Amino acid sequence: MNNMEAIASLQQMNMEYDRLNHQKRQYAVLTYGCQMNEHDSEMIAGMLESMGYILAQSINEADIIIINTCCVRESAEQKIYGKIGSLKKIKEERPHLLIGVSGCMMQKPNELNRIRRIAPHVDFVLGTDMIHTLGNVILDAYTQRKLVVQISPDEYRQIDEGLPHSRQDDYRAWVAIMHGCNNFCTYCIVPHVRGRERSRTPTAIISEITQLTRKGVKEVTLLGQNVNSYGRGLQTPIDFSDLLMMVNNIPNIQRIRFMTSHPRDLTEKLIKTIEISKHVCEHIHLPAQAGSDRILQLMNRGYNQLQYLELLTQIRERIPHVSVTTDIIVGFPGETEDDFQETLKLCVKAQWDTAYTFIYSNRSGTTASTMVDQIPIAVKKRRLQELMALQNEISLKINQQLLSTTLEVMVEGESQNDAQTLAGRTRTHKLVLFPKLTNLMPGDIVQVRIDEVKTWTLHGQVVPYDTGR
Ligand code: 5AD
Ligand code: SF4
Repeated sequence: MNNMEAIASLQQMNMEYDRLNHQKRQYAVLTYGCQMNEHDSEMIAGMLESMGYILAQSINEADIIIINTCCVRESAEQKIYGKIGSLKKIKEERPHLLIGVSGCMMQKPNELNRIRRIAPHVDFVLGTDMIHTLGNVILDAYTQRKLVVQISPDEYRQIDEGLPHSRQDDYRAWVAIMHGCNNFCTYCIVPHVRGRERSRTPTAIISEITQLTRKGVKEVTLLGQNVNSYGRGLQTPIDFSDLLMMVNNIPNIQRIRFMTSHPRDLTEKLIKTIEISKHVCEHIHLPAQAGSDRILQLMNRGYNQLQYLELLTQIRERIPHVSVTTDIIVGFPGETEDDFQETLKLCVKAQWDTAYTFIYSNRSGTTASTMVDQIPIAVKKRRLQELMALQNEISLKINQQLLSTTLEVMVEGESQNDAQTLAGRTRTHKLVLFPKLTNLMPGDIVQVRIDEVKTWTLHGQVVPYDTGR
């Protein structure tokens, strides 16, 4: 049966279930990991809805649960296995429940055996770039008594085009512009589980964003493991800057974001494009990963500290008020105290708005996993604390410069902790909290005067405004 036929068949089955039970079958998707995974989950949800499932209010009511996994660090895997384990009891109570495990973790060698061994209550697994097969997988899972497996066989995969999405928000959307990664940073499992780099065609991307804006989307985030290498291998000669300009010209788009940028591939042309294009936001996520040249080389990053800092200078000279955020790993194999001091030095020199800091996690299959001199966990934890303390001071100082300024904020919704407070983001991606005004809706743009700043948040009051609606 082809994939379309499988979906049609599930629609029939689910309609029949609804007719007999007076209730539609429900789904839940639990997501771990990065934005690309969140985005994949929206596609999984879209596929499930096209089969006739509706979103469950809690996993206890779901008839099908899919866990979309991450394997970038061991801690993610531990959490995921904990979650899978906790579903065993639910499955015992409700044997008709289908449980699927999808995404990066399932592309790792041996993971399938682990699922078979410790999680026999799982009904199916689905690798990355396999979402188009979900209909057949679910049909098989309903009829077979054994684990149904659909994993990407090779590194050079097709891109799924035209699949439905069930997006979380009406006013903003993630749009994948490329898949996979060719960089092979020595610590990273991503190229091993997401395959080689493939760019979507500009036609497909522009058409998707145009349709989104017609439905009211105002902000798009262009996603890729290394967006700066967008276009390589496409028939049309195009690079990421060209694509940004095309998106910038789509009617009604208000904000364009993108991630992640690799410092080695970030060109002067791109800096200029961000400078001159009205809707591209002044925020660059530019992972440095480490400060020591020796470690950067062992990581296969393709730049040294000085080159990274020169790039930052160029960016800041050309793009006023730009914010730059980063990722840093501490405790890469062989990282000496002197190497770590270089990371601290880079932190002071770079003055990042925010740094996402990670303890190196040994991923089998990567080059770094076989390196001798793995760093003891206690040392890694101490370095992480030191780095975070330093970065927090810097983030706070940078935010203090924003006191008493008025910033353009796009409303996201109620704050997580307080229904009387609204949360929104500046163009530079800073989180701003301000008292709720009932006429404001997610996606509205307001001016907020900042009267208090913290390390991670800005606080203020809306100034008399025109929402632009
Ligand atoms: N250990 C710790 N952090 C890692 N990252 C990627 N691989 C690892 C690993 N093995 C971090 C990098 C990357 C971010 C998404 O996750 O900093 O930029
Ligand atoms: Fe991993 Fe490096 Fe590719 Fe990022 S660029 S996904 S860190 S290999």
